[in-house]
Amino acid sequence: MNIDILLGLQWGDEGKGKIVDALSPGYDIIARFQGGPNAGHSLEFNNVKHVLHLIPSGIFHPDKLNVIGNGVVIDPAVFMKEIFELGSPIEELTRRLIISTRANLIMPSHRILDAAYESSKGNSKIGSTLKGIGPAYTDKTGRNGLRVGDIFHPDFASIYQSHLENHLSILKSYNFSFDLKEYEKDWFEGVELIKRFRVENTEYLINNMAGQGKKVLAEGAQGTMLDVDFGSYPFVTSSSTISAGACTGLGISPKAIGEIYGIFKAYSTRVGSGPFPTELCDQTGAALRNIGHEFGSTTGRPRRCGWLDLPALKYSIMINGITQLFMTKADVLSGFKTIKVCTSYLVHGEECYEIPFSSNFEIVPVYSELEGWDEDISSVKEYDLLPKALKNFIEFIENSTGVPVTMISVGPDREETIFRK
Ligand code: GDP
Ligand code: IMO
Ligand code: MG
Repeated sequence: MNIDILLGLQWGDEGKGKIVDALSPGYDIIARFQGGPNAGHSLEFNNVKHVLHLIPSGIFHPDKLNVIGNGVVIDPAVFMKEIFELGSPIEELTRRLIISTRANLIMPSHRILDAAYESSKGNSKIGSTLKGIGPAYTDKTGRNGLRVGDIFHPDFASIYQSHLENHLSILKSYNFSFDLKEYEKDWFEGVELIKRFRVENTEYLINNMAGQGKKVLAEGAQGTMLDVDFGSYPFVTSSSTISAGACTGLGISPKAIGEIYGIFKAYSTRVGSGPFPTELCDQTGAALRNIGHEFGSTTGRPRRCGWLDLPALKYSIMINGITQLFMTKADVLSGFKTIKVCTSYLVHGEECYEIPFSSNFEIVPVYSELEGWDEDISSVKEYDLLPKALKNFIEFIENSTGVPVTMISVGPDREETIFRK
């Protein structure tokens, strides 16, 4: 069981990029299994912050292989921009970044369709990142998708054109103006760049290497509460963000999975629309946003902020089979006199511990109040040296969920990470 998974338990942006980077020295392959350029995974070292969208967060470790798996949707224009931003010679990157033949492509027209669908939704917009994610996955499951392996076809340009015409005929029914030309230029340049990389049936690579005792870390994007099945539908993304998604998104068996790390913020955030029971539309919410720098890594939008939601966390732990919990942004809570944790909901006045089916249900959170702490914890290196009130908060979470919190992140830098012995 050489394959571990790391995924988000909330609404995304839990700090996956930072922690995957911090864990990478213990792995041989880091593989993204779903999502696409809607993701923004930040990581920091030597006082420089990097934000990755499509490229796995192990890329800054020169001796590791990074895989973009079949479950990911790739926009070649975004890929090209991201590769150039890495600043490393392409020849060097091509030795350690491998792309699945079976990953679906996001076409420029998928982005236009995304924008057209969103603008037609009036007051019930999803709040999509507008990167073309929904339309690309729709074409994939509708068996109309273009895949990375197709770019080597001698008639790729005409195959592209026939897909584009399908999209243009759909767009005729939307009153939506657009210009594809500029984006298409970058897109085709990106396609040429992808050809310089190893494009393989990566399911063989991953299974073979894991079979030889190499360690694989599967990196999730988004979060469980944005999962297409178990998130707050329809305010979700279009992929399977859960541990099962790692199996379909990389071509691995559930039998091969070892640890399933669930990462969560010490509070909650959400970007885009949809239910958020513990949201704080007051000064406390504004304080969390300011102290935690809660602005989207991909779109720059302010993130909605609120207290930790335990019913949602427990739901995510159950769906994913989480074996270890990782808590991030504990440092952001320093200085709050009291910290609230939602332990159940009132749904239409009745106490409820389950996540309701409908996003329209009115949910009122029921809170427990815990004592806060004042100390700056960003330079703490050992669990035992953390403030007592923070340790009580962590124990409260462990007792409620039955899962150990084995890592606490106290700052954005790779070094600001406490692994509990
Ligand atoms: P991801 O999408 O899950 O990788 O998370 P993002 O990168 O979108 O958002 C997490 C943000 O919090 C980034 O700006 C990180 O640099 C930052 N971050 C991660 N862990 C910590 C932490 O423990 N403390 C603080 N203060 N910031 C953190
Ligand atoms: P990472 O990997 C936070 C949200 C969008 C929107 C909904 C659907 O950085 O955690 P989409 O573009 O998929 O059609 O948007 O999902 N969303 C994210 N929120 N973090 C992300 O990724 C997200 N990816 C998508 O804001 O509400
Ligand atoms: Mg993010």
